[in-house]
Amino acid sequence: MADTGRRGKLRIAIAMRDADLSALFGPTTLAELYELATVTHPGVLQSLDTEVAAAALADAEVLLTGWGTPRIDHAVLDLAPKLRAVVHSAGTVKTFLTDEVFARGIQVSSAADANSVPVAEFTFAAIVLGAKRFGRFAHQLHATRASRRTEGMPPTGTNGITIGVVGASRIGRRVLRLVQHLDATVLVYDPYLPRAEAAALGAQPVELDELCRRSTVLTLHAPEGPTTRRMLDARRLALLPDGAVVINTARGSLIDTAALTAELVTGRLDALLDVTDPEPLPADSPLYELPNVVLTPHIAGALGNEVRRLGAQAVDELNRLATGRPLAHPVLGPDLPHIA
Ligand SMILES: NC(=O)c1ccc[n+]([C@@H]2O[C@H](COP(=O)([O-])OP(=O)(O)OC[C@H]3O[C@@H](n4cnc5c(N)ncnc54)[C@H](O)[C@@H]3O)[C@@H](O)[C@H]2O)c1
Repeated sequence: MADTGRRGKLRIAIAMRDADLSALFGPTTLAELYELATVTHPGVLQSLDTEVAAAALADAEVLLTGWGTPRIDHAVLDLAPKLRAVVHSAGTVKTFLTDEVFARGIQVSSAADANSVPVAEFTFAAIVLGAKRFGRFAHQLHATRASRRTEGMPPTGTNGITIGVVGASRIGRRVLRLVQHLDATVLVYDPYLPRAEAAALGAQPVELDELCRRSTVLTLHAPEGPTTRRMLDARRLALLPDGAVVINTARGSLIDTAALTAELVTGRLDALLDVTDPEPLPADSPLYELPNVVLTPHIAGALGNEVRRLGAQAVDELNRLATGRPLAHPVLGPDLPHIA
């Protein structure tokens, strides 16, 4: 790792779930972390309202956070007068950051970009396998233990399909780059995406209704929020062509579950759902049994060896702070309403 112009060791406090420290930071990354930074307390802070936490925060310039970090409100910030940055080694910061952090001019970084890599890979695989009708064929083989039958199968394969990407988010942009490898037409819907950028991403920008009407495979990558809640409702689901595949690795609330269930039960659409609303679905949901539905238990984001990428990105951000360089993955307060 580059070590140019370092002004001295950073003083950091670490607040996350205890077990995640070694999961996120392998031995090499941990060694880099301790070379860059002095930790103001032994171990990992599980809560921020204890005397140990107060002593640790009093001297901390940076708070290194992760899954399970307690809320950082004005009471916590009052204990941390030297704090200049929060470096998050997981995805969203919305679960624990308050506006007060931005109001005090504290810089924030998140590892959401590192977390977007496995989600985009998973989505690309889902697009290819979904178009191939892999779930239906797998179900057929498990049920019959006999050779493949293609009668009654919807159009199969990616050649010439139209892929609709909803949300040019970090994940959406990675998906847009990956699908350039396919012989497909690519559409994108994102109210925040300038047309020129859509063209640079190899996609045609369209409104959501048109995207629904034209997509053979529709994949969701918008954040959860008031403007995206049930953006795929019964009316928009009905616009999708027969045999279309709906992929959701974003958030379950983006789809009206009852309306999608009604479409899936008839077999008109296929779905690959890594997230659902509610999550998990009730035990008696028909979606568990349908051949045209593949359900996964929220596994698209970083798991196993993938989480090390998040730790490495966080340590890279600490290195930037230690050497006076700008953060590579800043989170800006005004962006919060429309990011994940
Ligand atoms: N399944 C998983 O394990 C997993 C892991 C990580 C993220 N996610 C989810 O994936 C989704 C994307 O995450 P990200 O980190 O790439 O998001 P992000 O923060 O990068 O996305 C923000 C962007 O989404 C776009 N957007 C905002 N509102 C929109 C709208 N109404 N319609 C269309 N586009 C809109 C804008 O371009 C905005 O800049 C989120 O829903 C997130 O919760 C799931």
